[in-house]
Amino acid sequence: MPERHTLTKTASYEADPEDVGRVLLLYSGGLDTSVMLKWIQDEYDAEVVALTVNLGQPGEDYDVVRGKALQLGAVDCFVVDAREEFARDYVLPAIKANALYGGGYPLFTALGRPLIAKLAVKHAREAGCDTIAHGCTGKGNDQVRIEGTVAALDPEMKIIAPVRGWQMGREEEIAYAREHGIPVKGGTEAPPYSIDDNLWGRSSEGGPIENLAEPPHDDVFDLVTRPEDAPDEPELVAVEFERGVPVGLNGKRLGLVELLEQAGAIGMRHGIGIVDHIEDRIVGLKVRDLYEVPAAEIILTAHRELEKLVGTIHQNQFKSQLDHQWAFLVYAGLWYEPLLEDLNAFMDSVNEQVTGTITLKLYKGKSGPVARSSPNALYDAALAGFGESGGLFSQQASPGFIELWSLQSRMAHAVRQRNKGES
Ligand code: ARG
Repeated sequence: MPERHTLTKTASYEADPEDVGRVLLLYSGGLDTSVMLKWIQDEYDAEVVALTVNLGQPGEDYDVVRGKALQLGAVDCFVVDAREEFARDYVLPAIKANALYGGGYPLFTALGRPLIAKLAVKHAREAGCDTIAHGCTGKGNDQVRIEGTVAALDPEMKIIAPVRGWQMGREEEIAYAREHGIPVKGGTEAPPYSIDDNLWGRSSEGGPIENLAEPPHDDVFDLVTRPEDAPDEPELVAVEFERGVPVGLNGKRLGLVELLEQAGAIGMRHGIGIVDHIEDRIVGLKVRDLYEVPAAEIILTAHRELEKLVGTIHQNQFKSQLDHQWAFLVYAGLWYEPLLEDLNAFMDSVNEQVTGTITLKLYKGKSGPVARSSPNALYDAALAGFGESGGLFSQQASPGFIELWSLQSRMAHAVRQRNKGES
């Protein structure tokens, strides 16, 4: 029996080595999962079926990824283009909820994981796999999201997370790869960052980023132009929404995937969407992430602005609290938590009114609204009348309103003054 580097089993869904016959591996083509593809065959004496999910990672060649998986001994490799589903069923609800975790992270990774896990369960079943393997570490949020989703969707499915147990660092993995003829992209020279990306954003973690005292090195940024190198001329971008759904860019109607890609491309040119973020992970640690989120910054800014224009003061104040809760549940990997479904019903209801166009000005890393129009705007000069006769607003009524509105505060102030005088 070969020596196994697996940890003692803690959770019910973790696989006993002798029960592992056929593994569905979530395969990216990178170093971790390539080493894993070989390692699982050797350590578990199991067959491996690879699954690669396209969520719009820029510059990925899926034929190459598939070829590599097969070359490393996968009995099959499925490549699934899930961009439409990701945009419609994951990113769109996030837009309706103005989803930002910790004030800066638009959740692209957190949104992708439940979809990847759902597809893993589907393909594992179809390919007769008893176990799902993923390349997440034991320190991050992604293990929580993937394992929580798999366990919710298929309580019988077993899971292995080799990186949590194999105790190889980057150097050892590269050595293992060399030994087993696994091609290493970029060799040892590649920047030592952990990258995750899809059509809603890109993150870099690890390596020199962990030194909080230092500004990010230039080699981190792969999408967004440095703001100081962005064009000297500003650019306007008009984002059109129908019931909360972005449907057009600069007057052109676009499908959601294409719209997000084009918004991203415009933003990148102008240095939009760089976020240097300290984040509270769900597993207790803090982490520093460097995000490039040009599409999210443009679309979320426009959506928030339009929502503000059509919502009442009560809706606007209340919704931002629920937006917060939505982002937290998704960050925390609880995609199938019923509260999220309840919140989605609320988001959909509010977004029924979110129709109109917001124009943003992009200039050297900054973006902000400069023009707005909506048939549902509550900013309606004619209807309100602004104090002229015939409008709904009456300046004559103002002093009466002020007297009653301030009543409790004035009384409390008077009582405090009186009691201070007595003591
Ligand atoms: N901090 C983000 C999150 O927890 C991004 C993680 C991205 N993963 C990575 N391997 N770089 O969702």
